[in-house]
Amino acid sequence: MSLQFANAKTAFVPDASNTRLLRDAFGRFATGVTIVTTRTESGAVAITANSFASVSLDPPLVLWSPDRNSRRFPFFEDAEHYAIHVLAADQRELCWQVAQDAYALKNRELGINDQGVPILPDCLARFDCTQKAVYDGGDHAIVLGQVTHAQMRDGGDALAFYMGQVGKFAPG
Ligand SMILES: Cc1cc2nc3c(=O)[nH]c(=O)nc-3n(C[C@H](O)[C@H](O)[C@H](O)COP(=O)(O)O)c2cc1C
Repeated sequence: MSLQFANAKTAFVPDASNTRLLRDAFGRFATGVTIVTTRTESGAVAITANSFASVSLDPPLVLWSPDRNSRRFPFFEDAEHYAIHVLAADQRELCWQVAQDAYALKNRELGINDQGVPILPDCLARFDCTQKAVYDGGDHAIVLGQVTHAQMRDGGDALAFYMGQVGKFAPG
């Protein structure tokens, strides 16, 4: 009986009535956390995203998925250039600030990359991208970017996202 309890499962057929459950199931997949930035007429716009994935080495391609229902969606659908920052464990607060406010970076000291995109210092890695394609992804879009410049830190603990929470992932 206790064994059964320890392995308790929730099983369901995903449909429009149980998207919360599906989100929770997706949340069992632990990921890193990124902040994607782009330049707009109203200044630097940013979004916290865990949907980032590497795609191809040659050519160098990455993807991420913005939610069509986000007020920020139009900025990222239209962005010719954007930068994807992989967050370190000590950037937890920034992760939530940007999740709450598209303009959360406006009072920060930002750099500017070769494409005029505002960039954050001190991330684990950064990928400067040119938009290559935007594919249909249901209520999200799948944005494919060509990486024009990449940089990374030698080490450091990662910020991880799991079951709706962020925390430190330390290798080893
Ligand atoms: C850890 C984390 C990961 C997220 N990942 C994504 C993502 O991959 N795609 C996305 O569209 N929104 C993602 N979000 C939500 C956005 O950061 C942001 O909260 C949302 O776009 C807010 O919508 P609004 O601009 O309409 O207020 C994530 C939020 C958090 C905290």
